Amino acid sequence: MPDRITQVEPPTVGRPGGAPVLSVIVPCFNERPNVAPMIAKLDAALAGIAWEVIYVDDNSPDGTTLEVRRIAQQDGRVRCIRRIGRRGLASAVIEGALSSSAAYVAVIDGDLQHDESRLPFMLSALQAGGYDLAVASRHVEGGDSAGLSSRWRHMLSDGGIWLAQAFLPVRLTDPMSGFFMLPRTLFEELARSLNGQGFKILLDLVLSSHAPLRVLEVPARFRERAAGESKMDALVMIQFGGLLLDKVFGGLLPLRFFSFALVGALGIVIHLSVLAVLRETSPLGFESEQAIATLVAMAFNFELNNVITYRDQRLRGPRLWRGLLLFMVVCGFGAVANVGIAQVLYERHTTWTVAGGIGAMIGVVWNYAVSATLVWRAR
Ligand code: GDD
Ligand code: MN
Repeated sequence: MPDRITQVEPPTVGRPGGAPVLSVIVPCFNERPNVAPMIAKLDAALAGIAWEVIYVDDNSPDGTTLEVRRIAQQDGRVRCIRRIGRRGLASAVIEGALSSSAAYVAVIDGDLQHDESRLPFMLSALQAGGYDLAVASRHVEGGDSAGLSSRWRHMLSDGGIWLAQAFLPVRLTDPMSGFFMLPRTLFEELARSLNGQGFKILLDLVLSSHAPLRVLEVPARFRERAAGESKMDALVMIQFGGLLLDKVFGGLLPLRFFSFALVGALGIVIHLSVLAVLRETSPLGFESEQAIATLVAMAFNFELNNVITYRDQRLRGPRLWRGLLLFMVVCGFGAVANVGIAQVLYERHTTWTVAGGIGAMIGVVWNYAVSATLVWRAR
């Protein structure tokens, strides 16, 4: 199988009655008020290009699907996939893109935060050849992230970028971007290796390619949300955790999650035992002893997960050491998210047990989700 799809350059205007040149995939959940304005903006931005928009709605309670269908009745370029009983940004994007027959697929948020006027430029850059992927970036000259809602979001975002940058095969100043475009055939080629659980679909795409993708970064503004609210907050993470637990009664992955969580619980026991022994025997202060216990517990967790949870993808040799390092970094972030979110909840007068429990759960879900994507990558 070739590493790269050689694309026959498609015309900007599609064959009449045939597939469009560009499918714009819009994952959405509770975006009803944003649907009509978004389509109007796409229509303006994409004048002269044969395009369609594919909304992938996870059966939003606000009736987003109804609104898309209402417009679709007047406009054949508007399509909608309604998913029932499933949630998730990444899997929504995958399904939308795989339903396309266009030459190119773009992914954009449905809340008007992304600057759709960048689309024609991204398309012509890809059509000109030389690039596999165009990514709208807030962190190149001319882009900005003013729309990020809080300092907390900025911290999370910067942290994520740093983490991703350290391990990416290509340079991406905005690896968390949810706005990008690539040839549909390339997406299909990579789709097999995508981990639909991951919520960072762009990272997943880049990591799934055997040969490093040639990425064009396009500066873009990140606007304030027009209506509705962000789903990428603590609640989504909680729902995500709940969803994972829910699936325990039927799926395959959840077993992994349980194994992961059990190993984590065992890790706490190890941590406390090591700490207890050190307290008795070592001359070091509490802080150093706590740090040593943490490292031992992490290494223990890593190896146990490697042998049990990810038995089928067990890392060996040099990849083992790289995996261990990555695992420790990922869990470090998990701990920061855990403490940060618990703190926010606690400040909003949630009882300490609930705040602490939710924080811990988010930590576990994060560690699980990110290590599944970054440490033990299904190949
Ligand atoms: N189908 C579906 N299912 N769509 C979803 C889901 C889901 O479970 N969760 C969120 N979406 C949709 C939203 O309706 C929106 O159109 C888009 O995905 C982005 O979600 P937001 O909730 O608006 O995310 P955000 O603005 O906090 O995050 C954006 O910026 C991040 C960088 O800071 C996204 O573009 C992220 O991908 C990006 O990492
Ligand atoms: Mn948003």
